[in-house]
Amino acid sequence: MNDLPPWPYPRWIAHRGAGKLAPENTLAAFRLGAEHGYRMFECDAKLSQDGVVFLMHDATLARTTGMPGIGGDQPWTTLSQLDAGGWHSRRYAGEPLPTLAALARFCLANDYLLNIEIKPTPGTDAETGAAVAREAARLWAGTAVPPLLSSFRPDALAAARDAVPALPRALLLDTPRSDWLDLARQLGCVAIVCNHALWDAQTVADARAAGFRQLSYTVNDDWAAQRLIDLGTDGIITDRVDLFSPAA
Ligand code: G3P
Ligand code: MG
Repeated sequence: MNDLPPWPYPRWIAHRGAGKLAPENTLAAFRLGAEHGYRMFECDAKLSQDGVVFLMHDATLARTTGMPGIGGDQPWTTLSQLDAGGWHSRRYAGEPLPTLAALARFCLANDYLLNIEIKPTPGTDAETGAAVAREAARLWAGTAVPPLLSSFRPDALAAARDAVPALPRALLLDTPRSDWLDLARQLGCVAIVCNHALWDAQTVADARAAGFRQLSYTVNDDWAAQRLIDLGTDGIITDRVDLFSPAA
């Protein structure tokens, strides 16, 4: 299909572990995604006040833990006590926020692959990018397939590149920008992860010609997934681990 270097990641990637079927970014979610046959997961990573890399999508704690305030303002001793599962359903009450280290242990023990989205608390892009890259390099040292780091934040990707150049990176895009290929090139990316609506025959051809793999988020409909497969793109991040078989 193209002459890009080999790509070690599977097409199907479970968003935040298992989409909406379990509390996002908890170990329970990654376990459930794996039960549905997924071998690669996307997660959101940020820094606690005292520099621990942990998994959470939002900057604020309220939606997924019920606590007021900003996650990145709290030390890990506080964050580690929070209930990150009860908001989802009673079944998951008491599920803790995981560290990236805990998810790495789970992935490495089972040969699962990971896409770590660097999701900085506002105002901490460079610090978070560097810290996540260093922690990922430490946790995955000596393994055959490293995690793919991605971010919407160019400064986070630049800091990740400077901290650990060897880790693969992907630029996340939600809306079109005219300098997308130049930016991905400057950041030393291997892939571009777009809102799936941004991919068409032209953008796929342009990305491929520039040497970038093409991935999409968050793809939850059959028609959308089939369109991306027909376009020949490389990766699909989905919530619907119950709908899409990753063997497809
Ligand atoms: O990494 C792909 C996707 O997760 C980006 O959007 O807001 O779900 O983190 P979001
Ligand atoms: Mg994400």
